[in-house]
Amino acid sequence: MTHSLEISPRPKVDVEHAAKLAHDLFAIAGTISELSSHQDRNFRIVTQTGDVVLKIANKSWRLGALQAQNSSLLYLSEQVNEFTAPVPIPGVNGEYIQTAVIDGDELFVRLITYIDGETLTGERYLAPIVRADLGRLAGQAAKALEGFDHEGLTPGGQWDLMHGVAFVRQYLDSVTEPERRKLIDQQVQQIEAILANVEDSLRIRAIHNDVTDDNTVGIPDTAHRIRPNGIIDFGDFTRSWLVGDIAMTAASILRHAVDHPFATMDAIRAYHHEVPLTDDDVTALWPLIVLRGAVLVVAGDHQALLDPDNAAAVEPLEGERRIFDRAESIPFGLAEAVIRATLGLPSSATVAKAREELTHATTLLETPNPACVVDLSVESDALDDGRFTEPGIINTILAERSVATGTAVSRFAEPYLSRTLPISEIEPATIALGVHLSAAAGTSIRAPLDGEISHRTNGRVVLTTAAGLIYLDGLSDAPADGTHITAASPIGTLSTGTLWVQVLAEPNLDPAPAFCTPTEAIGWCDVSLDPSALIGVSLRAPSTQRSELLDRRDRSFARLQEHYYDEPMQIERGWRTHLIDTNARSYLDMVNNVAVVGHGHPRLADAVNKQMRKLNTNSRFHYGAIVEFTERLTELTPPELDTVFLVNSGSEAVDLALHIAQIATDRMDLIAVREAYHGWTLLSDAVTTSLYDNPKALETRPDWIHLVAAPNPYRGEFRGDTAAGDYIAEFNNTVDSMCAQGTPPAAFICEPVFGNAGGVLLPEGYLAATYEAVRRVGGLCIADEVQVGYGRLGHHWWAYQMHDVQPDIITVAKAMGNGQPLGAVITTRAIAEAFGDQGNFFSSAGGSPVSCVVGSTVLDIIKDEGLQHNAATVGDHLIARCSALMNNYPLIGAVHGMGLYLGVELVVDRETREPATAQCAAICDRLRELGVIVQPTGERANVLKMKPPMTLTLAEADFYVDQLERVLRDGW
Ligand SMILES: Cc1ncc(COP(=O)(O)O)c(C=O)c1O
Repeated sequence: MTHSLEISPRPKVDVEHAAKLAHDLFAIAGTISELSSHQDRNFRIVTQTGDVVLKIANKSWRLGALQAQNSSLLYLSEQVNEFTAPVPIPGVNGEYIQTAVIDGDELFVRLITYIDGETLTGERYLAPIVRADLGRLAGQAAKALEGFDHEGLTPGGQWDLMHGVAFVRQYLDSVTEPERRKLIDQQVQQIEAILANVEDSLRIRAIHNDVTDDNTVGIPDTAHRIRPNGIIDFGDFTRSWLVGDIAMTAASILRHAVDHPFATMDAIRAYHHEVPLTDDDVTALWPLIVLRGAVLVVAGDHQALLDPDNAAAVEPLEGERRIFDRAESIPFGLAEAVIRATLGLPSSATVAKAREELTHATTLLETPNPACVVDLSVESDALDDGRFTEPGIINTILAERSVATGTAVSRFAEPYLSRTLPISEIEPATIALGVHLSAAAGTSIRAPLDGEISHRTNGRVVLTTAAGLIYLDGLSDAPADGTHITAASPIGTLSTGTLWVQVLAEPNLDPAPAFCTPTEAIGWCDVSLDPSALIGVSLRAPSTQRSELLDRRDRSFARLQEHYYDEPMQIERGWRTHLIDTNARSYLDMVNNVAVVGHGHPRLADAVNKQMRKLNTNSRFHYGAIVEFTERLTELTPPELDTVFLVNSGSEAVDLALHIAQIATDRMDLIAVREAYHGWTLLSDAVTTSLYDNPKALETRPDWIHLVAAPNPYRGEFRGDTAAGDYIAEFNNTVDSMCAQGTPPAAFICEPVFGNAGGVLLPEGYLAATYEAVRRVGGLCIADEVQVGYGRLGHHWWAYQMHDVQPDIITVAKAMGNGQPLGAVITTRAIAEAFGDQGNFFSSAGGSPVSCVVGSTVLDIIKDEGLQHNAATVGDHLIARCSALMNNYPLIGAVHGMGLYLGVELVVDRETREPATAQCAAICDRLRELGVIVQPTGERANVLKMKPPMTLTLAEADFYVDQLERVLRDGW
């Protein structure tokens, strides 16, 4: 028997030799190929009765350990489990474990069934659900093995974390990089000390000990994410600390392109659901994850020295180092606090005690007036008009607010809007772990508790108290280092007028950051205490985890009016091309075609405010704003289209346009294209046939609606060079048959760029020919410009202009009001007058003074800020960059559109054009994590719709494409 920590190279067995062993020992024959292994030799054999794995153990294996493995697999095979595991197959002599002499050594040979599926091996991104799958699987395996034991299970294999510290120390010299070697040494010392406090109470059991990315398999879900549900390798099976199982699983997640080490919490939460972790497990868990990383690095470097030709040992080194580095980057106290909060467990004893001590604190100031508590969150009125981007804004606002009461103070755990980052794939550290206190310079400050003073080189004064460490930044005249001070006695004076106050309950985490990311906040806001007692007012910022708000929305608001994302972030501010959630995370907004001039535009807000204070009434009164706005609109259209109706939405505009056409022609029948969306009112819905919006659309059309093929040359009925002619021919047939039936068309309506399909450009000549066909029989042509018009295409103001045609009626909305309800129908005087046969037209809010001021101001901004030109430049750039992605990523089938109305169409196969619907949804979810809001569109929801505010800059466009590329490369 070899020493338990010894590492041996793999047996020298090639494929022919393995085939012979399989034949001789197990009477198995088939197509054989080698599988990767760190220390053994494994071969997959495809046989007629199913696939099996031949396993030749390296010489350090003990018979007892292998018997224990087989026995555990047989034990599992007798249960009904939610996961799959291999089943051992006996040899020709009836024994499960055979022997063979290889290179002079007698080695053990086994055969087990092959579990089909793909592993998560590699570095690809793992989605939260996949991370949870891994944790759940580890928990299920642990649960299933609960009653199992075997005499061959002796602890102490190299992967057994109970012996991890000893293993790392024994082989530490093999670590090639001196810095990492030093770091591992330091970490292992700390880990040893933490484990010493809890190891006596950690549960010891038979555990799988390796439910990781490499050792689990699953089949891809519809979004092509592998969902692990099978465990394939029981080679590290041992009797050890139960919590070690989830440490292994969590560590394996850190190899992958996840955004934060706390991505492991999805797995830990799912594991805890199966096997509840104890208090001591929680203390031990992160140290064990770091230890696992250290073991991997040490073993990897050692194995690479021993067996440099073994790719299975050499290639994973980078990933193993990443596991250690990422795990090690998190202080143990913080990780414990995060795990506790994630699992809903109470704070650690140290934190609980500090919290209790803090309730006895006296206030820092002896002020007569209570401090004014200042809101610095995303919703703060003080930060409107982009003020949050001004340097030094926090001090400015606090100083302004302290004028009245003498003191102003910010809130604890507040996400500071001023700390948001407009273009960032990682969450910025926005959450305040202390408070800013503003008072007159020179104000005297008192010690809140008994404590000892120390000074830091950065000017910080620290008071060490029974409630932990109290940081005071901005204090002058504090007593010297080491001074003991009693509560309520003077501790110094305010130097600049602003004091940063932070209470750290867990001294091991000193120095703590002043701000942390929202992901880390559940831990940092536990170990940093709410300093309300030090100020004398309640300072806790309202929770940003307002899940109850979504429930309330569901209760009071029609659920059919859906929201983006299953678990939406709460967006409470927009600024230029960004939307900002309540954690002060900014997202690049790639979908808001309504907010053309960007979010929160002060010029627009001022214009509304001014007009609202003067007059807002209906268009039956006579006022200047309506004249000015309608004149401005008609300046944008050909001279014949000189008459405007003002309404409140795109649906109303389409409804009115169709109604006008029916009255003006004295006909009922309408032609519309399939797969289009035009609105929800009765008439606009009648021409809406998008199955995405209404799966029954085609069966429920009235008989006066005549549908023609969706003019989509990429995936429509007609494709290729002859597509335009075929679409036109089909259109002409429709017109002819309508006329033949005595129901010629009143109008034909379509979008001049196929917006609902994701910005697909119509076949060349289509619009000219169809308009001609309709007019030939006395019908009218309606261009629905609600989505694609108004400068968004960059190279044209109206989308119809790219086809050299002129409609009889234009419908417009969305962009006109930049989100304010505003819509218009623009037509000729004659058509408008003909509509008068049916009486007057009146819309209460359509054309109101405020709406008209909004409309005119939006036009001013588009012109003054050159937004149409910007849409052309940035749009061309986006098209070029997205098209370039097609060279590397076959998932992109096409890039559609023009200017800032674009679509990236995702397909499973470029030939068949099978839509990649689930992938599209998953990619959107992943892009949200990377700070981008983009959504699927099209009948098959497989097109990434890109129709951002027209303020999108080149840098923002690059950020978007970079993130999209990252997702395509690393996975979703
Ligand atoms: C082409 C088109 N027409 C009309 C409408 C309806 O506009 P609204 O939502 O303002 O009623 C939409 C809305 O998406 C649209 O895309």
